[in-house]
Amino acid sequence: PSDQNKKHLAAFELLTKFYHYLLTTAKYGSVGMAYLEKRAFSQEIIERFQIGYAVNSWNAASSLLQRRHVDLSQMAKLGLVASRGFDQKYFDKYRNRIIFPIFNLRGKAIAFAGRTLGDEKPKYLNTPESPIFHKGDILYGYHLARPEIRKRNQVVLLEGYVDVIRAHQFGITWSVASMGTSLTEKQASILKRSAETIVVCYDSDSAGIEAAFRAAGMLSGGSNLIRIARMPEGLDPDDYMIKFGGEQFKSDVIGASQTLMSFKMDYFRRKRNLSDEGDRLLYIEDVLREVSMLKQAVARDHYLRLLADEFSISLDALKVQAKQLQKQLQ
Ligand code: CTP
Ligand code: MN
Ligand code: MN
Ligand code: MN
Ligand code: MN
Repeated sequence: PSDQNKKHLAAFELLTKFYHYLLTTAKYGSVGMAYLEKRAFSQEIIERFQIGYAVNSWNAASSLLQRRHVDLSQMAKLGLVASRGFDQKYFDKYRNRIIFPIFNLRGKAIAFAGRTLGDEKPKYLNTPESPIFHKGDILYGYHLARPEIRKRNQVVLLEGYVDVIRAHQFGITWSVASMGTSLTEKQASILKRSAETIVVCYDSDSAGIEAAFRAAGMLSGGSNLIRIARMPEGLDPDDYMIKFGGEQFKSDVIGASQTLMSFKMDYFRRKRNLSDEGDRLLYIEDVLREVSMLKQAVARDHYLRLLADEFSISLDALKVQAKQLQKQLQ
């Protein structure tokens, strides 16, 4: 890394330790700790993810950085401090927030996500893109998850920071997060290389379901097995595990995850009213389009039979139409 990058990494290392020290020292961190305790974070998981707390002060971090002779104009570029317009004095950007350090593959902190303790906006204040941090190039938790991903040849993709932390706390240590619903091509390629099976488990709200559909599309087409996990409406993986525990998450969410095709069939189904004849035909077309894109003849045959049985259509008619669609796509 360049000298500049080394300085940036050193600043994140220093502040990761500082915020973690504040959180775990009673006279500074009790407000932050109370929040984490309310959300059932264990001491051990706070250590593993190096979670911290930025106290409600305008200069806790900036005066530390100043004492260490760190160039504050550089720290402003990293989104850690900002300068006041009228006298150019620097103040802390992170105040009264839980700090989740974001680590690179080597386990070095390269960014922070700061969560409010209440409902203020933004809920997560992320440090901006920088030469050492490209959000779309990394997966949250990957440095901790990698050994178990390798061992199981499976990776579980979640949406959020807390989802990953909770999963690891409950023993599902082969989980990582895309940090939001917009999976990037780079993240998709890391996932594809990391394990044969990729289980996508995004939040069970409309944004999460749409995003899972899109992510599954990006991940498929190669040699990976893509599965999509569903949870009861409105829950995210953290909510689910708080409610039902990690074992049930393993068996009823990861274990009961669907193949891409059966997820897509459910997805199309929700968009149509199958008691309406016109909608029923559109649904059949939706599915035929997907089926015609399948590479294996056996898989195509399997889904065509499902359709034929469900809607009492002749298998031959479905095959003819699937062939036509297949030609159109070529
Ligand atoms: N996210 C973000 N910035 C925001 C909102 C969301 O970076 N202002 C990313 C974070 O990685 C977050 C993920 O999107 O973890 C999912 O967002 P959301 O479901 O809203 O948050 P949760 O992870 O469920 O957070 P919490 O449980 O703390 O509410
Ligand atoms: Mn500690
Ligand atoms: Mn969400
Ligand atoms: Mn969520
Ligand atoms: Mn959540």
